[in-house]
Amino acid sequence: MFSLQILQSCPLPLLTLAVFIFILNAATKIIHQSPRRRRRLPPGPPAIPIIGNLHQIGELPHRSLWKLSRKYGPLLRVKLGSVPTVVVSSPEAARELLKYHDLQTCTRPAIARASRLSYDFADIGFSPYNDNWREVRKICILGLLSVKRVQSFRYIREEEVESLVETLSRHSVSGKPVNLSEKLMSLAITMIFRAGLGMSSHGIKKNIERFRGLVDEGGTILGRSSAADFFPYVGWIVDWVTGLHRRREKCFHDLDEFYDDTIRNHIQNKNKEGPEDIIDLMLNMGREQQLEVGDEWNHIKGVLMNLVLAGTDTSASALTWGMTELIRNPRVMKKAQTEIRNRIKNEGMIKEEDLEKLEYLKMVVKETFRLHPPGAALIPRKAMSEFKICGYDINPKTRIEVNVWAIGRDPSVWKDPEEFFPERFIQNEIDLKGQHFELLPFGGGRRGCPGIHMGLSLVELGLANLLYCFDWKLPEGMTKDDVDIEEVFSLSVHKKVPLQLVPVKYNNSS
Ligand code: HEM
Repeated sequence: MFSLQILQSCPLPLLTLAVFIFILNAATKIIHQSPRRRRRLPPGPPAIPIIGNLHQIGELPHRSLWKLSRKYGPLLRVKLGSVPTVVVSSPEAARELLKYHDLQTCTRPAIARASRLSYDFADIGFSPYNDNWREVRKICILGLLSVKRVQSFRYIREEEVESLVETLSRHSVSGKPVNLSEKLMSLAITMIFRAGLGMSSHGIKKNIERFRGLVDEGGTILGRSSAADFFPYVGWIVDWVTGLHRRREKCFHDLDEFYDDTIRNHIQNKNKEGPEDIIDLMLNMGREQQLEVGDEWNHIKGVLMNLVLAGTDTSASALTWGMTELIRNPRVMKKAQTEIRNRIKNEGMIKEEDLEKLEYLKMVVKETFRLHPPGAALIPRKAMSEFKICGYDINPKTRIEVNVWAIGRDPSVWKDPEEFFPERFIQNEIDLKGQHFELLPFGGGRRGCPGIHMGLSLVELGLANLLYCFDWKLPEGMTKDDVDIEEVFSLSVHKKVPLQLVPVKYNNSS
């Protein structure tokens, strides 16, 4: 009423001017207050209030995001709850991110997020690539993962693979199928716990059920997104109601207890024989830096958390998928066996020095990592500043996922991408060490996997010996087309139904 009176008393030119000024003012405000509207954000599906696009993400997020990226493009924008997210699904976009914007995005979620553990070097949420992380990487590399250190643990890999071959040989007499998924997980655990934690083979085997339980649960808990990840302020209530919070707490408590026992044993046996391992190294460093005991132990436990979970689950997943693809593709299995058995004659076992002679086996390993990268997506990053990828604007605080699984299936790079065809790597320089963005099973940039040499050595040596020492049959009544390839999402993507195969001992001294 009051405004109507003002309008009636105004002459027309003045009114027009007032309306013009009002519109100009409003437009300026919109432009200034919301610069994002002018920005060119990556395309994506419309988001629903509150949940965003969560309803479009199934139990296998890498597959759901792949389907969306085929519709909207290799740089996809989605909203996961209240978290704006960009998903990278092409080598070009991955190159731009990991090569040119690595430093701006090399944060990662805290491992023990939503848990009370204090040694994860971060509060709940994303941890920056700070001095602590650099220190952790340095220790991991110095103590365990440099090429030199990995070579020095070669005898452990060879002994453990030999022990697996012996177990399988005994089993082969019965002609019954063996749960290979379980055996390969035990191999990875024994290997990492011996080299990384300085434990004895005997001690590990005696407790293998407990350790497998710890690693399985740790992988499941870390691989599983929680409501708190996507609804930062209220999600914890949902996690509390669903019981996820309690399950997490228990899992981290059990791991914590295990690390405490391991460090205590090290201190009690400090004059033990044998090479210095990563815990010895950190205890020495702690003494030199005169750290408080609590700080020192937390530091060590932070490193162990990384090694135990990042090293075992991934290697076991790769070995199992390798054997799964080989049994589904008898032509490839035969060709790989012929290469190994022709090139290495009259040896009981394949040794690491033999691996260089096995070109086809290396292609089989690459093809396995292309189709089944254990971490289907790299660990999520978070943009710390504003930048562009492929001409699109990325806002600060955007969560960034690199869908390595989808990149391995990009039809513009890989012909017949769903086919397991190792020959595609003949005269093809694409390698998997983080320099070629078409194949990124170990990630890339500053946060790429520091355990690559250790992981690759175990997978190559394990597969080479399984193929050298045995022929493999499917359980009675099954054909290769019956082999299930359903996935289950955990820290790594595993085969959902354990791989059961019948080993038939091959006489390799003939
Ligand atoms: C086949 C075996 C393996 C695969 C496929 C693999 C893959 C990966 C991937 C994809 C990442 C994340 C990279 C990124 O987000 O850019 C990663 C991180 C990591 N991996 Fe591995 N990994 C393997 C074996 C190992 C082993 C054997 C160890 C150590 C014993 C290890 C230790 C780590 C650590 C400590 C990180 C975290 C690095 C950081 O945050 O800076 N990995 N790995």
